[in-house]
Amino acid sequence: MRTNQPQTIYLSEYQAPAYLVDHVSLRFELFEDGARVHSTLSMRQNPAAGQSGGPLVLDGDSLTLESLSLNGQPLASGEYQNEGDKLVIPVVPDSFELAVVTWIEPQNNTRLEGLYKSSGMFCTQCEAEGFRCITYYPDRPDVMARFQTRVEADKSAYPVLLSNGNPIEQGDLENGRHFVTWEDPFPKPAYLFALVAGDLVEKRDTFTTVSGRDIDLRIYVEARNARKCDYAMDALKRSMRWDEEVYGREYDLDIFMIVAVDDFNMGAMENKGLNIFNSSCVLASQDTATDAAFQRIEAIVAHEYFHNWSGNRVTCRDWFQLSLKEGFTVFRDSQFSADMGSPTVKRIEDVTLLRTAQFAEDAGPMAHPVRPASYMEISNFYTLTIYEKGAEVVRMIHNLLGDDMFRKGSDLYFERHDGQAVTTDDFVKAMEDASGRDLGQFRLWYEQAGTPVLAVSDHYDEVQGVYRLDIRQSVPDTPGQTGKLPQHIPFGLGLLDSEGQPLPLNLNADEQSGPVERVLELTESEHRFEFHGLRERPVPSLLRDFSAPVRVHYPWTREQLLFLMSHDPDGFNRWDAGQKLAVDVIQSLVDAPQGTEIEPRLVEAYRLLLNDTELDQALVAKMLLLPSEAYLIELSEQADVPAIHDARELVLTHLAQALRDDLLACYQRNAGQGDYQLTPGAIARRSLRNTALAWLLHIDDEQGRALAVEQIEQADNMTDRLGALRALVNSGFESERNQALAAFFERFQDDPQVVELWFSVQASSDRAGQLPQIQALLDHPAFDWKNPNKVRSVVGVFAGQNLAAFHKPDGSGYRFLADQVCRLDDSNPQIAARLVSPLTRWKKFSPQYSSQMKAALERIRDKTELSRDVYEVVHKSLA
Ligand code: ARG
Ligand code: ZN
Repeated sequence: MRTNQPQTIYLSEYQAPAYLVDHVSLRFELFEDGARVHSTLSMRQNPAAGQSGGPLVLDGDSLTLESLSLNGQPLASGEYQNEGDKLVIPVVPDSFELAVVTWIEPQNNTRLEGLYKSSGMFCTQCEAEGFRCITYYPDRPDVMARFQTRVEADKSAYPVLLSNGNPIEQGDLENGRHFVTWEDPFPKPAYLFALVAGDLVEKRDTFTTVSGRDIDLRIYVEARNARKCDYAMDALKRSMRWDEEVYGREYDLDIFMIVAVDDFNMGAMENKGLNIFNSSCVLASQDTATDAAFQRIEAIVAHEYFHNWSGNRVTCRDWFQLSLKEGFTVFRDSQFSADMGSPTVKRIEDVTLLRTAQFAEDAGPMAHPVRPASYMEISNFYTLTIYEKGAEVVRMIHNLLGDDMFRKGSDLYFERHDGQAVTTDDFVKAMEDASGRDLGQFRLWYEQAGTPVLAVSDHYDEVQGVYRLDIRQSVPDTPGQTGKLPQHIPFGLGLLDSEGQPLPLNLNADEQSGPVERVLELTESEHRFEFHGLRERPVPSLLRDFSAPVRVHYPWTREQLLFLMSHDPDGFNRWDAGQKLAVDVIQSLVDAPQGTEIEPRLVEAYRLLLNDTELDQALVAKMLLLPSEAYLIELSEQADVPAIHDARELVLTHLAQALRDDLLACYQRNAGQGDYQLTPGAIARRSLRNTALAWLLHIDDEQGRALAVEQIEQADNMTDRLGALRALVNSGFESERNQALAAFFERFQDDPQVVELWFSVQASSDRAGQLPQIQALLDHPAFDWKNPNKVRSVVGVFAGQNLAAFHKPDGSGYRFLADQVCRLDDSNPQIAARLVSPLTRWKKFSPQYSSQMKAALERIRDKTELSRDVYEVVHKSLA
C-alpha cells in the first residue's frame, strides 16, 4: 500500500484567519496514563478577514475530544464535525467563549511534538505545529493570544511546574497533588507555548537590565546535571547585555527560564520566557564538553534568547516567513559569537557550513527559496537555506546599509511591528524606509532558489596600466524555477601588488588614491570594472569576507593561491586560498591517481604554517585543516567518493610524512598550557596540538601513539581527551584504539552527552565505523532509538560524515540507511525525514552509486504508511 499524497500548502493561498483568539485559559491535569487538557478560548471574528460569518475551523492532531461547549452550552454531536485533523463548528456568534476538553497520552508520544515525556519529566515542543497535539486550536502563527496556564501534577514526582510568563498562584491539592498557575502578559502564537513538569533542580542568577530592572534567571536540570549549567548561565547574561548594546533590545518579563531536556528533536526552542533546550545544547563542563560544544552552547543560548525580539515580540505571519525570524536570528547570533571570540574564525566556520551543506541543498531536489512558495510538511523546512542562507541575506543587507543604517532599520522594524505577525517583505521594507536604499532587486534573494554563480575573468593592459575584471552572473535552475533574473550581489574586492601591498582601487583614470578595498554591487548579468594606474599585474582577492553566498569561478593559478595564502590582509580569503590550493591538489589526484606528484609547494606552505608563531594562531589552526570530503564532493560534478576519499587520505599521508618533525614540534609547543581557558588563543592551541596529533597517528607514528595514550590519561578537559581518542580511533593501532574506547566508555557511561561523543567518534571513522561496527553500536546497551541525539550520533554521523563507509560500492550503506529511516518513521517522522538527506543528493554521484542510492529511496517510498515528512522528501528526491 502506498501512502496517499499529502496536501501541498501554497503561500499564494494565504488568507487572514477568520477568527482571532484574545485569551486562552489552559488547565493541565497530568497523570501517568495521560493528561487532560481543559482549554477556554475567548474568540471573535477577525475584522480584517476576507469574509465573515464562516465556520470556525480548529486544528487537532492525535486528540481525544472529551467535551466541547460554546458560551457555556455543551455542543451536541450534530453541532460540530470532528474529522481527521480538523474540528469544525459551522455556526458561531461574532464573539464567544469556547471550552474544549481533550485527553492526550504524553507517555506514548514518540514524535516529540506537543506534550511528551523525556526521562520522567513532562515537556513540550510546539513549533511549528505541535500545539494542535495538545488541544484544538487555530494553530497558526498569525493568531496571537494571551495565555494563562494552570499545571496540576503529583507533587513528589513533579515538584517543579513551569509555563510561560510569571507565576501568579500556587498551592496544594488533594491526593498529594499540587498546582502552579502562570500568566504570560504578551500575546503570542501557540507555537511559543511551553510547559514543563518534573523533578528538577534550579540554578539561579540575576541580570540587571539597562533600565535597571532585575531579571530572575533560572536554568532547570536534573540533579545529576547541576554542575553543568554555569557556562550556559554566563552565556545567557552575555547575550542579554549584547542585545541591549548592539540592538537596543531589553528583556521584557521578570523571569527568564531555560530547561534541559534529553529527548529533543532539534537544538532548542525559544518559547516565551521558558526556553527548552536539547541537553546537548546547554549542559557543559570542562571535563565533559569539547571547545566546539562550548561554542555551540554559547551560540544557541544567544540564538534562543535573541528570538525574544526577533521571533517572539515580532513573529511570522505564516510558516513561509520562517526565515524572517530564523535568518535574522542566526545573523544576530553569529555577530554575537564573532564579538565574543575571533570574527575571522567565526566567518570561516559559518562559510564552511554554508558552502558544504547549504550549497548542496540549494543544488539538490529539496532546493527552495529563503521564502518558500509551497510545502507539504513545514518541519522539513527548518533547513540550512532558511537558517544559514537566510542569515547571509540579512548579512548582505547589513553590509549594503552599513552598521548605523542597519541599526536604524532594525529599530524601525521592531518599533513598527512590535506585537505583530509579519513577513520577510515587512523586514526589507523597514530596512529600505530607514536607509532610503532601494532593495527592490535585492528581494530576489528571498524568492529565487539556487546559488548564484559568478564567472570572473580578468585582463591586464600593461601599456595603459589598467586591470579589467569581467563578472558574469547566472542563477541555476532549481525544481520548479527556471529562467531566473540576476540578483543584487555585494562583491568585496581587493588588489595586491607583488609584494603583497594593497593597491588603490581607482575606478576611473582621474581617480588616484581610491580605497584599497571596495564592495562592488553586481545587479546585471554582466559587469566590467576597470582599475586604473596600476604599474604591474595585480593579484585579485575576490569576494572578500565571503560578501555574498555565491560560487565564484576564476582560473586561479597555484602561484596566486600560494601568494594569497601568505599575503591577503583579508583573513577569510587567506584561509580560503589555502583551501582552494588543497582542493586543487586533491582534485588533480582524483583525476589522475597514478603518477601524480603531490604539489611540493603545498607541503612547504603547510610547513610554514606549522612553524608560524607570528600569525593569529586561531587562523593557523583553521588553515591547517584540509577541506572535508563532503566539501570535495560538493565541488565535484559526478562524485566518486572512494576516489575522493583515497586522494584526500593520500595527501594527508604525504603531508604528515614530510612534516613529521614539524608536527612533533608544533605538538610540543602547544602542549602544557596551564589552566583550561576558552579564549580564542587557548582554543587555537588545543586545535593545533590535536591536529598535529591526528596527522601523526594518520601515519601510525610511534611517538605519536605514545603521546596520544599519554594525552588521554593526563588531559584535564574533554577537547584534549577526545582529540587523542579520535586520533587513536583513526589510526592503525588497533589494540590501543580498543583499549582507549573501552576505558573512555567505562569512565563516562553515565553521561549521555559524552556517550554521544563516544558513539560519533566511532561512527565517523572509516577504521572503526564500517557497517558491522555501526550495527554493533546500534545494539549497544547505551543506544536508544527513542533518543534523537543517539540516533544522530550513530546513524546520522555514519551517513553524513563517514562517507567512504557509507558510499560502499555494493550499496550496503544506502540500504542500511533506508532501513533505519523506515524503522524510525513509525516513531519519529521528523527525525526520519532528516536522516534521508544524504540519499536525496543521489544525482550528484557517479552512476554506480547514484543508481543504488535511488534504489534505496525507492525502498523507503514503497514502505506502507509513510509519514507526510518522509513522503515529501522521498517523492521530491525521486521526481
Ligand atoms: N525555533 C527553533 C530554533 O530556531 C527551532 C524549532 C524547530 N522545531 C521543529 N520542530 N522543527 O531555535
Ligand atoms: Zn531559531
